[in-house]
Amino acid sequence: MKRKVVSMTMAVLLGLSLAACGSNDKGSDAGSSQAADSQEATEAPSKEDGDAGADTGAAAANKDKPLVWFNRQPSNSSTGELDMTALNFNADTYYVGFDANQGAELQGTMVKEYIEANIDKIDRNGDGTIGYVLAIGDIGHNDSIARTRGVRKALGTGVEKDGNINSDPAGTNTDGTSSIVQDGEIEVGGKKYVVRELASQEMKNSAGATWDAATAGNAIGTWSSSFGDQIDIIASNNDGMGMSMFNAWSKENEVPTFGYDANSDAVAAIAEGYGGTISQHADVQAYLTLRVLRNALDGVDVDTGIGTADDAGNVLTDDVYVYKEDERSYYALNVAVTADNYQDFTDSTKIYDPVSAQLDEGSHAKKKVWLNIYNASDNFLSSTYQPLLQSYDDILNLDVEYIGGDGQTESNVTNRLGNPSQYDAFAINMVKTDNAASYTSLLSQ
Ligand code: BGC
Repeated sequence: MKRKVVSMTMAVLLGLSLAACGSNDKGSDAGSSQAADSQEATEAPSKEDGDAGADTGAAAANKDKPLVWFNRQPSNSSTGELDMTALNFNADTYYVGFDANQGAELQGTMVKEYIEANIDKIDRNGDGTIGYVLAIGDIGHNDSIARTRGVRKALGTGVEKDGNINSDPAGTNTDGTSSIVQDGEIEVGGKKYVVRELASQEMKNSAGATWDAATAGNAIGTWSSSFGDQIDIIASNNDGMGMSMFNAWSKENEVPTFGYDANSDAVAAIAEGYGGTISQHADVQAYLTLRVLRNALDGVDVDTGIGTADDAGNVLTDDVYVYKEDERSYYALNVAVTADNYQDFTDSTKIYDPVSAQLDEGSHAKKKVWLNIYNASDNFLSSTYQPLLQSYDDILNLDVEYIGGDGQTESNVTNRLGNPSQYDAFAINMVKTDNAASYTSLLSQ
């Protein structure tokens, strides 16, 4: 009897995955791995009441279940090289993030354009040097590295190292003698100004949590008390740290502060002098994070509801994301948010209209997903990304269990993946980008 249920399910699945192959345009290798593991399915206990559709979730081996990495791309934290083993863990493995280089360039350009447009008042002490400080999130996180480089590149303060701009923290450089950065130059209206990175550091707390907002608030206190009159601009790898510096010092001293993420509090602060931020289109990323799982669970082409409209009409246009098949990665595109357009970005938790239609539970049965956030107190993930995920999980009929880590130790998270067999799919936000194997080994047991 059990065997019969399984083989009937397999027949349905095969049919679905064949149909999927026919309509394939973006993700050509999108066929469901679930169809392929008939062996596993036969051995594992099957559900007697197996519901219609591709319901192998409970029966599939954990190693074959859909897996999405998000926000922290499996990669070498020193070289940035992608961890293709983790990205190809099984046929239904993907990464969802955003285009880090495009966003970094936007952030750098936004800062530079602000300086040019406000040149008459930006040099607060009139010494002819535009000084800035930089808050670095995590020296081993490729998004953070890209943003540091983007600012240095646009302002001409970058120094080449191994064929790329050095992204190391400069420490203190008020006298311009650092070998990690150099003085740049900006010419506006025929007048030349020196641009100097006065100081930069990784905002890591003593317990090891990176992107730490409180550490950034303390750093601006230290910096401003020793060379505050030289600071004309603050750049930060994200809004969490940027807002902490804004609230601690720069708002009162009217020093424009630039962050990244377009969290609602940062967007609102633009009205009070926060310089600007970048939206990494978290509304699109959160959707993609759960959508790739939904598609794999349904046994349909991965492009469904992404580049190709689904049965409810959800579809994305290619001005908001790119898919790089060789990297198994979806990247949302970034948008600069400044005084000119911030009114359009006031609610960072609002889902994206073109992908907001409810899926029918009859043809997209409820499935269980295990999902972790690497650090429950990360501003971006907790105030923007997770609320979005929580809206999309309803729309996509996914029953998601959210796990919040401490931002410091991988085991704090992996310890809570004790029974992967209870779930149909996994969404993982690693503490450290090198640590993919800590998760895949649990799924392979
Ligand atoms: C965000 C940061 C966040 C980090 C966490 C980045 O994409 O911009 O705000 O702290 O992800 O991994």
